[in-house]
Amino acid sequence: MGCLNTRFSNFQESLIKIQNGREYTIEDVDTLLKAEGEDSEALFAAAFKIREQEFAKKVYLRGIIEFSNYCTKNCLYCGIRSANNIQRYRMTIDEITAAVHEIKDAGIGTVVLQSGEDPWWSPERIITLIKSIKEQVGITITLSIGERSREEYALYRKAGVERFLLKIETTNKDIFAKMHPHDCLSQRIKCSTWLKELGYMNGSGCIIGLPEQRARDLAADILWFRDMGMDMIGIGPFIPAQNTPLEKHPPGSTFMTIKAVAVARLICKKAFLPATTALETLEDCGQLKALKAGANVIMLNFTPQIYKSNYKIYSNKKAIKLEKALETIEQAGLTRVID
Ligand code: 5AD
Ligand code: SF4
Repeated sequence: MGCLNTRFSNFQESLIKIQNGREYTIEDVDTLLKAEGEDSEALFAAAFKIREQEFAKKVYLRGIIEFSNYCTKNCLYCGIRSANNIQRYRMTIDEITAAVHEIKDAGIGTVVLQSGEDPWWSPERIITLIKSIKEQVGITITLSIGERSREEYALYRKAGVERFLLKIETTNKDIFAKMHPHDCLSQRIKCSTWLKELGYMNGSGCIIGLPEQRARDLAADILWFRDMGMDMIGIGPFIPAQNTPLEKHPPGSTFMTIKAVAVARLICKKAFLPATTALETLEDCGQLKALKAGANVIMLNFTPQIYKSNYKIYSNKKAIKLEKALETIEQAGLTRVID
């Protein structure tokens, strides 16, 4: 006779399988992403526990500088897409280096240099920038400048760049094709594979809430991150950006985003997972919830004020300040790493 009380639900069975790293399928991942109520709380608690096991109480801070908003691409969701008539800027090497100094002075050991896909920033210019930063400020550099050739990625690695962020955005090839008129999923995957081969600490990520995207697509994204051995995974909600084809599309669910972070933590145990700015933009305490569900990184914006307002990849973007981040980390019962 079966005893109903001791029978596991689908959710519990899937959670146990994934937690133990036993044979699990995309269905199990999908089941966790669809958790509601008590089940979602159990998911967050399980992810927090893995985070504790792998990283103790540590939360890592990164400083981001958005050094150019020129972009040749036209991603449907993005506020700085080429078709958007916005004021464009490029920071000078001196301005960028000064901002890197500020990051270092704040006790932050990693700068993320992000831009649109801007060919003006040629390999020669990027190398000059890297050298200037490495000579003047001892800091780890993460580049986030989009798709480039393997040779270029190799040059930057040789010049001392340790990390690279290139988000896949979605592994669903139909959605990818609709969202990215200039891109092809296979090329994006190729770039990520090169970055891995070249020894970068490899970063990817996805957007939650793209048109026609379902939980199963997110499950496939997370399994792809696992199979690629991604070191950093940025998972953030879609936020409509003004004057884009998706300006009227509803924002992504913050609940689903936090569940995706938790599932990513269970599956990619050692990955750096940011509590994204996009999450905090959509929901007060969004970052706190993400930290409590397995995230372990917060990115602070060090783009100079005069430029910041022109780097609106989505509308009403929040700029997370150091004090706010420290407060959030404390509220989560965690501690900030000074590196
Ligand atoms: N909503 C959420 N994220 C966005 N990004 C770009 N536009 C949006 C948007 N409207 C993210 C993409 C990209 C990163 C620079 O910003 O994931 O990789
Ligand atoms: Fe350009 Fe990146 Fe925006 Fe796409 S998401 S339009 S590549 S800045």
